[in-house]
Amino acid sequence: MNKEQVGRFYDVVWTEYVPEYESSEKHWALFFAPKEVRGKSVLDGGCGTGIFSVIFARNGAAKVTGIDISPGSLETARSLAERFGLKNTEFRREDMLHLPFSPDSFDIIWAWGSVHHTTDPFGAIAGLLRLLKPGGSILLAVYKKTKVTFLHEAVRRTLIRTPRWSWTALSKVMAFFLAPVVFLFKRREKSRKGEKLEELILDWYFVPIRHHYTPEEIRAYLEGKGLTIEKFLPASGRFDSSSNFIFKARKPASAGR
Ligand SMILES: C[S@@+](CC[C@H](N)C(=O)[O-])C[C@H]1O[C@@H](n2cnc3c(N)ncnc32)[C@H](O)[C@@H]1O
Repeated sequence: MNKEQVGRFYDVVWTEYVPEYESSEKHWALFFAPKEVRGKSVLDGGCGTGIFSVIFARNGAAKVTGIDISPGSLETARSLAERFGLKNTEFRREDMLHLPFSPDSFDIIWAWGSVHHTTDPFGAIAGLLRLLKPGGSILLAVYKKTKVTFLHEAVRRTLIRTPRWSWTALSKVMAFFLAPVVFLFKRREKSRKGEKLEELILDWYFVPIRHHYTPEEIRAYLEGKGLTIEKFLPASGRFDSSSNFIFKARKPASAGR
């Protein structure tokens, strides 16, 4: 499985889905205040359909660069920024593992749910850290490894071997059977409006590449690189999801790389 397959996958799944603005911004505000962002250069790594890029841009960032491997998602991100009349965003098709920016280019780097879809998540984080200015902040949301991850992974690894043309139908069948379980165990949030269970299933079980980590692994990596952890959330908060954990960390002002 490679990045092209991931790009094609996200050209089908989520391409037009934009998470609800208000709940996303409320969630964003757990990590950043407008005064911290004002006049800053921001990289949104794996920006998808661009909701967080737009939130940074509307909260005073001087320039937001959203990069993603999926052209379809970038198209949606551009339309979203246009809809808000934003002039300080740029969306580019780039691979997170080969980003063509100079070291120390960005004050803030936001990578929500993206490094774990690359072939080399720690390589992706290392690359992002190189682009972060000394004293800058990075935010990473990463899939959590739990006791049942191996079961989900066994299902995913089986399903991604099925023919691509069958994926939509398979995800609908799974959604049909899982809907009562989801209904019983999980209150669907208002913020998930417009998001279908079959799309969640596609994203969860059919994505070509996904890696899972424990918070301790990511913490050790960031601290090993000399960063200071500023905030840790054991679960996403956005959409009441427990699949991701989040670190916000600061690069030392006089950073060795
Ligand atoms: C789960 S989505 C998250 C999107 C967005 N950050 C959000 O929170 O709405 C993961 C995104 O990472 C992107 N991605 C995966 N591998 C990538 C890579 N190697 N380079 C750039 N983007 C990548 C996918 O195309 C997808 O849009």
